[in-house]
Amino acid sequence: MDMTEYLRRVPKVELHCHVEGTLRPETVADLAAKHGIDLPTDDISTIYDYDTIYEFLETFRFVNSTVIDREDFARVAFETLEDGVRSGNLRYREMFFNPTLHITRGVPLATVVDGFIDGIRRAEAELGVGCRLIADVYRQDSAEDTMAWLEELIALDRPEVIGLGMDAAEAPDPPEKFAAVFQRAGAAGLRRTSHACEDGPPVNITTCLDELGCERLDHGYHILDDPEVVARCRDAQIVFTVCPTSTARVYGWPDLTTHPINAMIEAGLKVMLNSDDPTMFHTDIGKEYVDFCGQNGHSVGLVRELVLNGVDGTWLPDAEKAAMRERFTAELDALEAELDPAP
Ligand code: ADE
Ligand code: ZN
Repeated sequence: MDMTEYLRRVPKVELHCHVEGTLRPETVADLAAKHGIDLPTDDISTIYDYDTIYEFLETFRFVNSTVIDREDFARVAFETLEDGVRSGNLRYREMFFNPTLHITRGVPLATVVDGFIDGIRRAEAELGVGCRLIADVYRQDSAEDTMAWLEELIALDRPEVIGLGMDAAEAPDPPEKFAAVFQRAGAAGLRRTSHACEDGPPVNITTCLDELGCERLDHGYHILDDPEVVARCRDAQIVFTVCPTSTARVYGWPDLTTHPINAMIEAGLKVMLNSDDPTMFHTDIGKEYVDFCGQNGHSVGLVRELVLNGVDGTWLPDAEKAAMRERFTAELDALEAELDPAP
């Protein structure tokens, strides 16, 4: 087996993937036809062509306007898990969804959540892949509106929803805006993470840890601007869910060999790889490993570390995490034994 096949086949956990950024273009076309929505282009294959985070967020909003009924949400959740299994041997994902994107256009929160859960259960039964949900705060929203849906979500009390996260444009809305929201989530037993240092300063990480109660962090690249914050996160073994391709595209690190993820690894930070918004960035979880590890010539030892960092970063109960670590280790051993010797 060559390195590319090996990288596709290693078992994977994913902790940073927005379900709304995973819609297949054909599914967008189908759902638009179903609901009588006009597409902005005649060529659906060009729907995900853009260059900035702002254009990206606009497209994100449009494609999701086609997802309306409970069955639509179920279809989207099932298909993205199927894509993860097929492209990269995905075994478990903690998947973001964005409540305000849907409730502000009149879709009830229960329709969104229960639809996604239907899709997750079908994927688990048919494909053997596990999945849990993380509700994402949209930073440009008000704290009051966010608290309102959070209360509704807590009242729904669905066990598949295990955490709160935060996305959208970081620079204009720093994390302290949502400290009370995150504290309420923690009091209700939700785990917490947040996008941080994607294009904001290292102080955002300190705020996420100290005021929001985050246990892991999404992205984190600009942490490298502050060695003290790096040392703190390294010592606390905070897991960073990094995304090579999406940030290469919209944050200006097109060359993966000079992407700050490498410097984060060298600094001793605990990182694991993710696809972020895979269809929207023309990637998948297998390709993230192939491109990032392949282009950097990373060793199988480092690949193993990245994979197992993903397991450690999950919010599964300790016993399930330990069992997953054991299964993944055995599978990595077997795959390494099949790998062609280095030339
Ligand atoms: N929404 C979906 N993906 C995102 C990302 N990587 N950064 C900010 N907001 C997002
Ligand atoms: Zn993201």
